[in-house]
Amino acid sequence: MVAQKNLCVLILAAGKGTRMKSSLPKPLHTVCGFPMISHILKAAQVLNPAAVGVVIGHGAQQVMETIKNSLPAWEISTPIVFAEQREQNGSGSAVQAALPLLEKFENVLVLNGDTPLLQPQTLQKMVDAFTADPCDGLVAGVTVPDPFGYGRIVRDADGAFKAIVEEADADDTTRQITEINSGMYVFRSAALQKALAQLTPQGPKNEYYLTDTLSYIKKDNGAVRVFSVADYTEALGINSKAQLAQAEQILRKRIVSRHLDNGVTFLNPDDVYIDEAVQIGADTVVCPGTYLLGRTVIGQNCVLEGGVYVKDSTIGDNVTLKMGTYVEDSTVQDTCQLGPYAHLRPGSVLHKGAKVGNFSEIKKSVIGEGSKVNHLSYIGDTRMGAGVNVGAGTITCNYDGKNKHQTVIEDHVFVGSNVNFVAPVTVREYAKIGAGSTITKEVPQGALGIARARQVVLEKKGVKQND
Ligand code: UD1
Ligand code: CA
Repeated sequence: MVAQKNLCVLILAAGKGTRMKSSLPKPLHTVCGFPMISHILKAAQVLNPAAVGVVIGHGAQQVMETIKNSLPAWEISTPIVFAEQREQNGSGSAVQAALPLLEKFENVLVLNGDTPLLQPQTLQKMVDAFTADPCDGLVAGVTVPDPFGYGRIVRDADGAFKAIVEEADADDTTRQITEINSGMYVFRSAALQKALAQLTPQGPKNEYYLTDTLSYIKKDNGAVRVFSVADYTEALGINSKAQLAQAEQILRKRIVSRHLDNGVTFLNPDDVYIDEAVQIGADTVVCPGTYLLGRTVIGQNCVLEGGVYVKDSTIGDNVTLKMGTYVEDSTVQDTCQLGPYAHLRPGSVLHKGAKVGNFSEIKKSVIGEGSKVNHLSYIGDTRMGAGVNVGAGTITCNYDGKNKHQTVIEDHVFVGSNVNFVAPVTVREYAKIGAGSTITKEVPQGALGIARARQVVLEKKGVKQND
């Protein structure tokens, strides 16, 4: 794609977000697993702009670090230019903080940093409208059921743009207007710069309103138009936790319908929590109470019973995750079966057809093809081969209080119930381990390792050895 040489994008994310009542800077609050700012940065990618600027201020360091560190994970390739707004005294002064960037480009798309539901295709349409019929300022307007809190778009008798009036400054008649400013604008950069220089503090908080630039452009005989957005949910600006919850719900619905379109079955589409980047194969069935988070990929024809939690993991085809399975940072190959109540902790890999069942925990371990850890076990820091059967209640003792140690269990080993492996320890292929053993030394190929006290039977009349 050819970069739009004349266009830069500027995202305003310096505001304090007081109404969120949170110590986390507003742009970093997440919607369906990703910070608001990442949704906006990602949407803007569609335009392939020559530069993207982000104005930071409140929590500047944290916001900048998070963005810088996360760009690859967010699949954002455009480099980001940061501009710091030292005093958060309005969206107009936020844009002013990025003047050095604006001066380099003919046109600029300005976006509020708190509208995570904006769709890339809407941004594209708006820029296309601007390109097809250039003007000095184009503002995205949308008619909403409840305009409270938004700047109202006031039009003159001919329906042409007149001004934007903020909630705090609006009289009763203006408050009745349901067409609001969505916080998305395309400006001819020179016209914007000239208007910015004329801003004066407004409203109860003495703020420099970006919205006022449109009136100044008009006064200067510039052309200002409104671009109408059809879907009002795209314009939802997040100022409070209630609005954040609302955005989460709307985006969740969008995500689920995308998966429905791809052939995924949901028993109750309203009771699943799927992050934006998750992929699910066709014919997979997802039951209620399921969380699929982060960068999770689920294959085709899987069954995810209720209450399943999968984060940043890859699950193959034809896998069954039974009720209550919890998987984090792990890989599960085709036809595996997990649960009920299985726990894969980070760094676990289950090869094809492996089974991890009832109340078993696996950490940073490889479970070989077709191997089974079905009941009440803890397997940590272990390399397990193929065709291994692990009896109920088997524990790898991987931690000596200071360091973690490896257990190696080679192919086709049979482990009886209630065995402890005191790591570091190796069990060679085809070996067998007697139930109740505590294994501290290597067991050779095909051998039987047994390490437990002999049974003693105390008869009523004295002691008799059993065998
Ligand atoms: C703003 C618009 C309003 C519009 C609404 C859409 C203005 C004056 N008003 O109101 O017309 O309907 O968005 O959601 O712009 N910011 C800074 N520095 C500041 C102040 C704000 O970077 O000093 C950033 C914020 O981080 C935010 C954006 O600008 O991303 C908008 O600020 P916010 O305080 O949320 O404005 P609203 O009251 O929602
Ligand atoms: Ca806002």
